[in-house]
Amino acid sequence: MGLPIGATDPDPSVAPNIARIRDYWVEGTNHTEQDRRLAQRIELCAPHIPYLVRAQRSLVRRMVRHLMRAGVTQFLDLGSGLPNAHYVHHVAHAEDPRARVVYVDADTSIEADSRALLDGTDNTAFVVADVRRPAELLAHPGVTALIDPDRPVAILMIELLLHIPDADDPAGLVRSYVDALPSGGHLALSHFGEDDQVLAGFRIFEGLRFGQWPAVSLRSRDTLESFFDGLDLVEPGVVPVPLWRPDSEDEVDRNPERVRMYAGLGRKP
Ligand SMILES: C[S@@+](CC[C@H](N)C(=O)[O-])C[C@H]1O[C@@H](n2cnc3c(N)ncnc32)[C@H](O)[C@@H]1O
Repeated sequence: MGLPIGATDPDPSVAPNIARIRDYWVEGTNHTEQDRRLAQRIELCAPHIPYLVRAQRSLVRRMVRHLMRAGVTQFLDLGSGLPNAHYVHHVAHAEDPRARVVYVDADTSIEADSRALLDGTDNTAFVVADVRRPAELLAHPGVTALIDPDRPVAILMIELLLHIPDADDPAGLVRSYVDALPSGGHLALSHFGEDDQVLAGFRIFEGLRFGQWPAVSLRSRDTLESFFDGLDLVEPGVVPVPLWRPDSEDEVDRNPERVRMYAGLGRKP
């Protein structure tokens, strides 16, 4: 019998990991048996969490398509996790292969897999960096090689801010990135709202003590909306994820207003 999951595992590339657990939930191929087992334990607390993660992936696809059609062809995906399972560059390149996509994550244990997923795909990069240092990140050669700061860029923060506690001033962090955007640049945010089951699921993950990140912070719809201060919100504003411009009625379950996971897209005037 192996060690209990995460017990004293010294190797972060083997220990269960939030990006690979999400990979399991979106039916990717970059997760281990350990990730799968922990994902299933989290599901016992929050059975709807795989649905939420998949709904969020679908949201990203709708947002990227919307942005491409609005003429925004550069994407900086902060806290990207693994660029797997039909994600930003797949959607952007289906519209125009010249679109540029830089994925950024601080988790070194997903670096090799992420680079392998992008191998042979032009106009994409995976950069290891901590988003809490915006000036450093925006000057990173992996970012500057692809992103032209004088043309509209979309900054994506999809379930990133839950890892930034209030003490680290998430609103100030968002502002630093928005300040760097040219007019016509966009900010996409999604965030888990206050959901006791989701919180219980995350507590299992945190309880294993190998997480690099502080305890997760869940936030209300109004708090998420306040992060868009100074930007023009694209219709329909900050709403439960399934209600952000669904492609079809099939994407919206019967009680979408009960989904406590919110998203919005803002445009810099
Ligand atoms: C909940 S996952 C979301 C992944 C992806 N955006 C998605 O929607 O599937 C959050 C990601 O943010 C990364 N992350 C957390 N804090 C970070 C930081 N300070 N700098 C860079 N990445 C960070 C984690 O490693 C993780 O991959």
